[in-house]
Amino acid sequence: MSEAVAPTTSRPAWKALEAHFQAIKGQHLRDIFAADATRGERLTAEATGVFLDYSKNRVTDETLKLLFQLAKESGLKDRIDAMFRGDKINITENRAVLHVALRATKDQSIVVDGVNVVPEVHEVLDKMAAFSGRVRSGEWKGYTGKKIKNVINIGIGGSDLGPVMAYEALKHYSDRSINFRFVSNVDGTDFAEATQDLDPEDTLFIVASKTFTTLETMTNANSARAWTLAKLKDDAAVAKHFVAVSTAAKEVSKFGIDTANMFGFWDWVGGRYSMDSAIGLSTMIAIGPENFRAMLAGFHAMDEHFRTTPFEKNLPVIMGLLEVWYADFFEAETVAVLPYDQYLRRFPAYLQQLTMESNGKHVTLDGRTVTYETGPIYWGEPGTNGQHSFYQLIHQGTRLIPCDLIAFCKSLNPVGKHHDILMSNVFAQAEALAFGKTAEQVKAEGVADALVPHKTFEGNRPSNVILADHLTPEMLGKLVALYEHSVFTQGVVWEIGSFDQWGVELGKVLAQRIIPELDASSSAELKHDSSTNALIRRYRSCKAK
Ligand code: F6P
Repeated sequence: MSEAVAPTTSRPAWKALEAHFQAIKGQHLRDIFAADATRGERLTAEATGVFLDYSKNRVTDETLKLLFQLAKESGLKDRIDAMFRGDKINITENRAVLHVALRATKDQSIVVDGVNVVPEVHEVLDKMAAFSGRVRSGEWKGYTGKKIKNVINIGIGGSDLGPVMAYEALKHYSDRSINFRFVSNVDGTDFAEATQDLDPEDTLFIVASKTFTTLETMTNANSARAWTLAKLKDDAAVAKHFVAVSTAAKEVSKFGIDTANMFGFWDWVGGRYSMDSAIGLSTMIAIGPENFRAMLAGFHAMDEHFRTTPFEKNLPVIMGLLEVWYADFFEAETVAVLPYDQYLRRFPAYLQQLTMESNGKHVTLDGRTVTYETGPIYWGEPGTNGQHSFYQLIHQGTRLIPCDLIAFCKSLNPVGKHHDILMSNVFAQAEALAFGKTAEQVKAEGVADALVPHKTFEGNRPSNVILADHLTPEMLGKLVALYEHSVFTQGVVWEIGSFDQWGVELGKVLAQRIIPELDASSSAELKHDSSTNALIRRYRSCKAK
């Protein structure tokens, strides 16, 4: 039986955290560490080969106790169980939230509307594996009999960011005889640049769209069809050069793609939670079915860890609660994700949709306006590049920016001393952020008095260090699931619906209304505000010149 859950800010643990925050907010990590020689070993957790050092956070044992208490009072355990069980926890769309079923093992049973969905998941995976195998081996031929050399994924949001991120992250494991490109933006430049040096005869398009109605994707897909047919001059070529990934069979066949070449998924997979569904078809073609299944096993291992581990040792729970602590008590507005691995260069962009589309909400599940901060802004770039760009602000600016530094003990490309140099920067940055450099230390170096304030580092900047052995498909699955479940944890504490995205709708509707108005010959009266009307008029006349 679920226990009744009090509103967020009236929970005893929340109130206790408010008082506790006042008591400890002035404490410096220097003093916290000095008082406890074991902290660096103690405030760590490890599971599934992912090691988390969270000791350099502005927390005490009491903070952690209260945060775990808050998770309990928020009903987190019940909510985790409800998600894994397939309850319709996405209440505004009346849907289950079952990305965890995408990586369930064959023997599991997860029932939605009376149907065990696990066999369907594996059926699609098998179909993807067979198709990927045919493309990779050259057995799947283009309309004129040529082997496919280029795969272009057309999609946007979750139907793009996951596939691009995974392709970049797992490039080391990919088939280098095939080029992979990704077209997302409705800006024609994206399509033009992706195709300018390619031949339609050996190019395969994957049109990836859950709804198959998204304006950007359908515009790009239509341009791709026109580009293909301009050379191949026969509608029958579409079947050889286009496949679809979607939940909308009707829309797919309306577009002209044979539904035999459609890879399905389900309404209980959110776009931003779909890179391990058929949306990952480009990933599977790139890295092969076996590696894709290893990635799923990684996701699953983290799912099981999240589902079964006490909060005190639970990586996503710890990370999620720390974000709540910083967002609501320190009022930190952003979180920096800093992967020290070039292959993870698109990971921050991927996490932006995952975190911000999920937790960028201002009302609770039952429609009350929240009185506290919810989803922080996630951003980042790979190290060490960011160090020579925005780290200045993190070290010496006026804002508190919690950082996640992600690194691997072994490089996939061991070149000379590169990896030691890279890793020394990970450890150095976390150390510098936490401990800084006092004015006394600066003075002792003989620095002129006038420069001392400029060369002083306050420190007390929090960070997590996430460390793993090396980047594999399995590890990527674990890392993505780690953040998925951290986002879930945050959403539960904040009582918000992390699985809808109504905030993207208004702009879409208005754009549809404006499209015909941009026609220079249109005489329709403009009925927007004076600014929008003037901008449209200016665009029309600029276009007409
Ligand atoms: O506009 C937001 C969004 O709905 C995302 O949630 C989704 O990932 C993206 O658009 C693409 O949607 P689809 O896969 O249906 O084309």
